[in-house]
Amino acid sequence: MPDFQSKDPTQAGFWNERFESQFTPWDKGGVPQALQQFVAKARRPLVTLIPGCGLGYEAAFLAQSGWEVTAIDFSPAAVASAQAVIGEWDRHVIEADFFQYQPTLPLELIYERAFLCALPHVMRAQIVQRWASLLPEDGLLLGFFYVDDAPERSLKGPPFSISSRELYELISPYFELQEDAEVTDSLPVFVGKERWQVWRRLASVVTTLDIDE
Ligand SMILES: C[S@@+](CC[C@H](N)C(=O)[O-])C[C@H]1O[C@@H](n2cnc3c(N)ncnc32)[C@H](O)[C@@H]1O
Repeated sequence: MPDFQSKDPTQAGFWNERFESQFTPWDKGGVPQALQQFVAKARRPLVTLIPGCGLGYEAAFLAQSGWEVTAIDFSPAAVASAQAVIGEWDRHVIEADFFQYQPTLPLELIYERAFLCALPHVMRAQIVQRWASLLPEDGLLLGFFYVDDAPERSLKGPPFSISSRELYELISPYFELQEDAEVTDSLPVFVGKERWQVWRRLASVVTTLDIDE
């Protein structure tokens, strides 16, 4: 691994350095099978957001499939590389910070791959709350989650792994798990520890504090 200056994955500079050096071991170079199958079976195109999209293959694939998709990344180097890679679909990739971005259309789906695991554990609750706030009831959160249940698992990252129990406890207050499957086309960095999951947004719980009296 090259000797990078930036050690903090919460900063765009960390990712810029890696994209500029083409050190991207998480990059699949294409669209994972489970997403392709999901799109093939979907009854209609869904308005989709891809946070932390990297090189954005999925954005091109969804746009080509007739889906309304926006892929965002806060690293200018990632966005420039994505736009070069996906050519005619480049308008679907924009530079934006996931925690600030305001969608221009109401979202129906958020696609996850290697974004949750790219950021340290302390950011997880914030990420899940943002997913939940961006999606309406019945909206879908789906994609690939880096899960490791080994007792001796490393807490270092990225990628930062999460146990299946922690992942469930983190997401289930806002979403219902609808599908959880093994992934057969993982990259070496994720192999045996990647799950394809589909979560459906639950209705927001209204507490008495939310009611204007
Ligand atoms: C490990 S890469 C994964 C890229 C892509 N999802 C993939 O599957 O190849 C994590 C990406 O998240 C982006 N990222 C991290 N924090 C972000 C934020 N707050 N807003 C937008 N993008 C962010 C990084 O710039 C990087 O491109």
